[in-house]
Amino acid sequence: MRPPVTDQLERIAGEARSLLGAASTPGQVEEVRVKFLGRKGLFSELFASIAKLPSQDRPTAGQAANRLKAELTALLKQAAARVARARPAAVARFDPTLPSQRPAMGHVHPLSLIIEEICDIFRTLGFSVAEGPEVELDWYNFDALNIPPDHPSRDDFDTFYISDHVLLRSQTSTVQIRTMEKTRPPVRIIAPGRCFRPETEDARHAAVFHQVEGLVVDEGISFSDLKAVIHMFARQMFSPDVRVRFRPSFFPFTEPSAEVDCTCPACSGSGCGTCSHSGWVEFCGAGMVDPNVFDAVGYDKERYTGFAFGMGVERIAMRKYGIKDLRLFYHGDLRFLQQF
Ligand code: PHE
Repeated sequence: MRPPVTDQLERIAGEARSLLGAASTPGQVEEVRVKFLGRKGLFSELFASIAKLPSQDRPTAGQAANRLKAELTALLKQAAARVARARPAAVARFDPTLPSQRPAMGHVHPLSLIIEEICDIFRTLGFSVAEGPEVELDWYNFDALNIPPDHPSRDDFDTFYISDHVLLRSQTSTVQIRTMEKTRPPVRIIAPGRCFRPETEDARHAAVFHQVEGLVVDEGISFSDLKAVIHMFARQMFSPDVRVRFRPSFFPFTEPSAEVDCTCPACSGSGCGTCSHSGWVEFCGAGMVDPNVFDAVGYDKERYTGFAFGMGVERIAMRKYGIKDLRLFYHGDLRFLQQF
């Protein structure tokens, strides 16, 4: 006859083997040990029930229990060794004492650097920064700026149209109008932004480029204020001894109008390849706000005068960094961009 503890022994043996096989950490192996061999473990119960057996059954049952206990002890030892071997590998994968990996850092784009620098200079002169949309109505890009319907710049060849009256702005002068429509004088803003013209790309032209517009309107503003502001800007942007000259020009929204040159930063005015040996480079269009523009935005043209200017960011960046080909700004070559 089977001794009554035999079933119990087999159940314990089966459970212990499968638990140990599945254990993968020292903690789990220890849990198995406590469950079976601990002071209140299953083996304690087993020996207690063997002690209650009739005396002729005790030796066989006791021997069987002891064999199982020895087997389990050996299995526990094996399992402990197995999980201990697995552990160092798992730890080696993460060493918290190693220096961390630096995240790859990006660079501020050179054009953004120049725009920031321009804005900083004008902020010190009391200007605030305004913005306008890149997709514009022709009212802001042309009509309100005194550019008549038959003006050549309105041609399909010179402006990207989205529909009859909607276009990609070809200049930041749009922000002059948007600002004056919203606020009353005094006005003192600059407006950096992206502009678009159907240009064939070459070393000096791109279909997408940047300008910074400026506008000052108040009572008693004169051309000498314009000259002073441009002069102060050029000295800070280029060099303290830079010279500036105004050449007569034409823009529909300013009267009189001027192109503004500064002495070539590459040769300081003596003449070199950068300035086509003239000693001067153009960096800005400017002029006094045309009274027709004041009419378009409802400003009193008898009371107010103002000046406006617009500068090309790429040209200034090229001069400042000695870059000969404007396409470098747009082609995303990291060897170029990482220098800034
Ligand atoms: N908007 C003109 C251009 O794109 C520049 C300009 C701005 C000229 C403001 C005069 C006054 O060429």
